[in-house]
Amino acid sequence: MSKHKDSSERRGSKKKKPKDDGACEVTKGRVRAHFLEGETGPWAKKLAAGSSAATTSAEATAADEQTVHPARRLGPDYSAPSSIDIVADPVLHAISTRRSISKLDPETPNDSDLRELIHAVSSVADHKGLKPWRFIIIRGDDRIRLGAALDEAGGVHRKSGEINEKPLRAELLLALVAAPRDNPKVPEWEQHATAAGAGHLLEVALWQAGWGVMWRSGNLTNEPAVRRLHRLKDKELLMGWLYIGAVPERYRQRMANSTRPLPEPEQFLDTL
Ligand SMILES: Cc1cc2nc3c(=O)[nH]c(=O)nc-3n(C[C@H](O)[C@H](O)[C@H](O)COP(=O)(O)O)c2cc1C
Repeated sequence: MSKHKDSSERRGSKKKKPKDDGACEVTKGRVRAHFLEGETGPWAKKLAAGSSAATTSAEATAADEQTVHPARRLGPDYSAPSSIDIVADPVLHAISTRRSISKLDPETPNDSDLRELIHAVSSVADHKGLKPWRFIIIRGDDRIRLGAALDEAGGVHRKSGEINEKPLRAELLLALVAAPRDNPKVPEWEQHATAAGAGHLLEVALWQAGWGVMWRSGNLTNEPAVRRLHRLKDKELLMGWLYIGAVPERYRQRMANSTRPLPEPEQFLDTL
């Protein structure tokens, strides 16, 4: 008897179930129908145009419900090979190689660069398009004002001439503000998720544009003195600061020689 369990046993199922090609076809049909109904734009219609097997979403959903039994709990099925290449695909490569750079060189993107990057990340998923986020640019002496606000928040008193140097760790900080709107259909937590998404997208966008970034916060982030400095409204939440600068040469060399392994993806993926 083989020492290796088959994949259905590993996933906790006693008996191997045959692969349900019918269900797969139905799902494909539903996707095609969705495209043909034009809900995803002209590019998607073009993609679906070649298919003659399109069904309406309603038909496909009904068939889908019949073929997928709620009691079967197999876990993800990794038996089909993936066509995704995270090395060759430039977007996936940028996402997967991104890392935070804690010590940054002084060059920074200019405000026009920031505008373009923000333009790109404004595609972030956003329920009802409420745009519940914004960034605040902090450069030069504004970083000293931030240090003073953090000191005030933390009750720190320094000798004359001394300043809080933490915000000086980069020449450019971008404060991320979650700015939820009142909406009966979109709870505040969803809007915070959108704001966090904008922050993560911007980290990757800056990385892809060649800049180093580190997202920092701390337990003083939403203390009154700090909120006041950023002119936050009552419901707004400061989600920290992206510290931005050039990637030092020594880091580039270190990164060229070392590949930090990504965590095992299985831990992040399951089925119901
Ligand atoms: C919202 C948020 C706040 C963070 N605040 C801090 C912080 O104050 N100090 C810190 O060392 N790391 C902080 N981090 C983590 C770093 O940005 C970074 O992700 C971590 O050091 C791991 O490095 P990596 O991004 O290369 O995996 C924060 C991350 C997030 C998303």
